[in-house]
Amino acid sequence: IFGPERRNSAGVNIDIESQWEPFQASVAVFAKHRWLAGPIVAGKRIVEPLAVQPVTAPYDRREVVGEVAWADADLVEQAISVAEQAYPAWSALSASERAGCLLRLADLLEAHRGELVALCHREAGKTIHDAIDEIREAVDFCRYYANQACAEFEERKAVNGFDGSRRLLGYRGRGVFACISPWNFPLAIFLGQVSAALVAGNTVVAKPAEQTSLIAFRAVELMLEAGVPDGAIQLLPGSGSEVGAVIASDVRIAGVAFTGSTQTAQRINRTLASRSCPPVPFIAETGGQNAMIVDSTALPEQVVRDVIRSAFASAGQRCSALRVLYVQQDIADRVIGLIKGAMAELVVGRPERHQTDVGPVIDAAAKDKLLSHIQSLKKWSKVVAEAKMGGDCQYGDFVPPTAFEIPSIEVLKNENFGPILHIVRFKASDLDGVIDQINNTGFGLTLGVHSRNERTYRHIERRARVGNCYINRDQVGAVVGVQPFGGQGLSGTGPKAGGPNYLYRFVLETVEACKP
Ligand code: SER
Repeated sequence: IFGPERRNSAGVNIDIESQWEPFQASVAVFAKHRWLAGPIVAGKRIVEPLAVQPVTAPYDRREVVGEVAWADADLVEQAISVAEQAYPAWSALSASERAGCLLRLADLLEAHRGELVALCHREAGKTIHDAIDEIREAVDFCRYYANQACAEFEERKAVNGFDGSRRLLGYRGRGVFACISPWNFPLAIFLGQVSAALVAGNTVVAKPAEQTSLIAFRAVELMLEAGVPDGAIQLLPGSGSEVGAVIASDVRIAGVAFTGSTQTAQRINRTLASRSCPPVPFIAETGGQNAMIVDSTALPEQVVRDVIRSAFASAGQRCSALRVLYVQQDIADRVIGLIKGAMAELVVGRPERHQTDVGPVIDAAAKDKLLSHIQSLKKWSKVVAEAKMGGDCQYGDFVPPTAFEIPSIEVLKNENFGPILHIVRFKASDLDGVIDQINNTGFGLTLGVHSRNERTYRHIERRARVGNCYINRDQVGAVVGVQPFGGQGLSGTGPKAGGPNYLYRFVLETVEACKP
């Protein structure tokens, strides 16, 4: 079951009728389902006597998807105690025993794809392609980290000493790991963090994003079904300012994996630093102000296809998404003309429809923030295009994909986490200035480059301070084990998720040395 023969999850090809029909039928079963979720502590699902919140669909706020009970401070305390007590037994298992649970989980995720896709549509507003990719990525994380743990942690490694002595290098979990995950990949990043922490030998206290607790709850139920012991995984839905902050301040937390905004990462970092206990690892994947540089040798049609996907797929709600397109003056009119044409074809609407390209944003607060950015840009910059909204958008949190021309990335003060593209024209002689402007934002997540001149793209790639540089392709959708993903600077601490170094951050190294 372990080894390189394990490939990335195949997903579903919805353009093939024999795949589409059973897939659609399996999702339709859950079209009216209402889920009930709450904290899971020591294997018990807890709803009463906690405060219960309704969950409604981002594409139509009249549609109730379920209810979720949020944890309180007492439950956080209980959950950390349970995880602490479970740590010795879980960490004493072999890596392959722990990995076995993740491989069974991966199979269960695939078996429950219909329900999980329905949850992605109805709780997170994900389109069909995004929902299928979400399940694939979650499956991939489980299998990738399971395989890697078996390869790296199963046996201790002999280290050659110059004096003939025998040394054995081993790895073990650190203790109770906190995993704090975002709503934009509510299953994939949630399970990516949790599966890495678990397989490395830690027990876990997980706090999913407020907006997407239902899918996290189902994931933990499947984890327990896959054989993860009750004490090893605790789920604490709740608000970041209450539950998240209490978790991070607890001295029993031996490490934190966090994905979300740069500001929240900075807050968690300060909380960890102020605890009166030894420092612990903090793995943060945060935001970006991602650019793409297009020079005059690029193929405009390919550029436009990749720009549209990078800026507007997932309604621009990927940390990797393109925010600022720098296009060389000589081909700018042609590229901008094609972008306008492509944006006129975008279908904005309900996410579960086959033809939809862009679904809703996550909630009313996100919509208001994005619309206010659009309104303020409309006052002083040129609107390149604004996509039409479908007739079915009126009851949901939709934002029309919009493109503007602006003078430089420097006028943007924040990351705008949605379907808004900013376009800047530049002269060939200013290329280094453009790279400096991008570097000076302090973020460093993704950069796209379109050029058929190898010297140009190598030069840009060498000078740019970004985690993932994508050349002559789109810049979203990193695949586990294929494009390890993560940034630098304000965009995160590394190591890259879905890459060969990630698990090492979750373990302690031990050395046994004997005299010859
Ligand atoms: N990993 C995602 C992507 O590459 C971003 O979170 O698009």
